Amino acid sequence: MAKKVYIGMSADLIHPGHLNIIKEGSKLGDVIVGVLTDQAIASYKRLPTLKFEQRKQIIESIKGVKEVIAQNELDYTVNLRKIKPDYVVHGDDWKDGVQRKVRQQVIDTLAEWGGKLHEVPYTKGISSTLLNQSLKEIGTTPNVRLEKLQRLIASKPIVKVMEAHNGLTGLIVENVNIQKDGMLKEFDAMWISSLTDSTAKGKPDIEAVDVTSRLHSLNDILEVTTKPIIYDGDTGGIPEHFIFTVRTLERLGVSAIIIEDKTGLKKNSLFGTDVAQTQDSIENFCAKIRSGKHAQVTKDFMIIARVESLILNQGMDDALTRAAAYIEAGADGIMIHSKDKSEGEILEFCKKYDKFENRRPLIAVPSSYNQIYEAQLIDAGVNVVIYANHLLRSAYPAMVGVAKSILENERSAEVDEQCMSIKEILTLIP
Ligand code: SPV
Ligand code: MG
Repeated sequence: MAKKVYIGMSADLIHPGHLNIIKEGSKLGDVIVGVLTDQAIASYKRLPTLKFEQRKQIIESIKGVKEVIAQNELDYTVNLRKIKPDYVVHGDDWKDGVQRKVRQQVIDTLAEWGGKLHEVPYTKGISSTLLNQSLKEIGTTPNVRLEKLQRLIASKPIVKVMEAHNGLTGLIVENVNIQKDGMLKEFDAMWISSLTDSTAKGKPDIEAVDVTSRLHSLNDILEVTTKPIIYDGDTGGIPEHFIFTVRTLERLGVSAIIIEDKTGLKKNSLFGTDVAQTQDSIENFCAKIRSGKHAQVTKDFMIIARVESLILNQGMDDALTRAAAYIEAGADGIMIHSKDKSEGEILEFCKKYDKFENRRPLIAVPSSYNQIYEAQLIDAGVNVVIYANHLLRSAYPAMVGVAKSILENERSAEVDEQCMSIKEILTLIP
C-alpha cells in the first residue's frame, strides 16, 4: 500500500518552493495537503490574500497532490492523528520563530505511530514574505479591500483598527508592526474618524467638514494603503443623501460605514451631555439603515449602527432596544459607545447583547475606558476594537512642543532630539 504523506501549507502565493515540497512529498507516497484556513493563518500572521476556497482549488490542481483537506489550526496534531501519515514534508525554514513549537509537536505526534518528518531544503531566492512585499507595492483593488473586513471578523478573535486622517497616518497603520512572542502584530484596518479628520483640517467635529471634503482625505489614504477601511459616517445625513454616500464608499472599496443615531447638530460623543445633542427616533434611524442597505450594490459592504444611548444617559435598556431594532432593520453590526471612565456599562451591554439570537459583530471604541485590555474585550464578545484618535492626539502635543522650543531658544538645534533626521524624512517615502 502506498505510504501517506501529509503537507500543511497556507498556499497563498504559490511559488516554486511549494511545488518543490509537493514534488519531494510525492516521491515518498500519496500526498494529502492540509491547506490552512484563514483562522489558522490569522492566528500567527496576516490574513492571506486569497480566500480558503481559492487556495484549496489551486492546490487541488497541482500535479502530485492526491487530496486536499482543511487544517483548522496552526498546530498539525488534529489532522495528523486523523490521518496517521508515514511522513510529514516541510521546508527546513521552520526551525526558529513561532513555527518552532509547531515543528516539535509534529515530530512528537508522528512518533506515536512511527511516522517521520522529512525536511526539504528551503528554496533560495524566493519567499512569501518578499512576494507579499511586492504585492503591497502593486496595491489592491477596491473589491479585494472591501471584502477583507468581513474575512477578518470571521478569522480573528478581535479586529484591531487604528485611526488615519491623511496619507502619512494611513502609512503608519499600514506598515507599523512588531514581533511579540514570535507573532507578527499589526493593525488590521483603518478608521476614518470624523474627529481627527475635522481636527486635522482645523475644524470642529460637527459635520462641518462635508462628505466631499472627507472623501478627499479618504482618497489620499486609499492611494497609499491596502488595508480595509471603516468610515465614520457621523449621522449619515438625511436618508436621501446617505444612499449616495453608501454607493460612493462602496465604489471606492471601503468596507463599512458606521452611522450614529443622532440628529440635528451633531457634536462629538465624548462631550456626552455637556452639550445639547439629540438622539434620533428608532423609527427614523431604522429607515435610514434600510435605505442604505437597499442602496448598496455588493453583498460585503457593511452598514454598522452606532448606539448613543449610554453617551446620552438614556440607560442600558434603551441601548439594547435600539441595538435589537437596528439589527432588525438590517444593520450588519452594532457599535456601542461609552464615555465612562469605567468599563462597567460597556461590559454589561456586551453580556446582554451576547444573548441576542441574531447577534451581529460588535464594535467598541475604548477611548475613555482605555484601561481595558483587548483580551477583556474578546472575552466580552467584542469583535472589532477601534483606537479612534490616538495618532493625532499624540502628534499634536509633539508639534506644539517643538514650536514652543524654537520660540524659546530662537533656533532649532534644541529640537533635534524630538525630530526625525533630515535624511530620515527624505527617505521615509521611497
Ligand atoms: C470619531 O473618531 O470621530 C468618533 C469616535 O466618532 S468618538 O470621537 O469617540 O465619538
Ligand atoms: Mg466621529
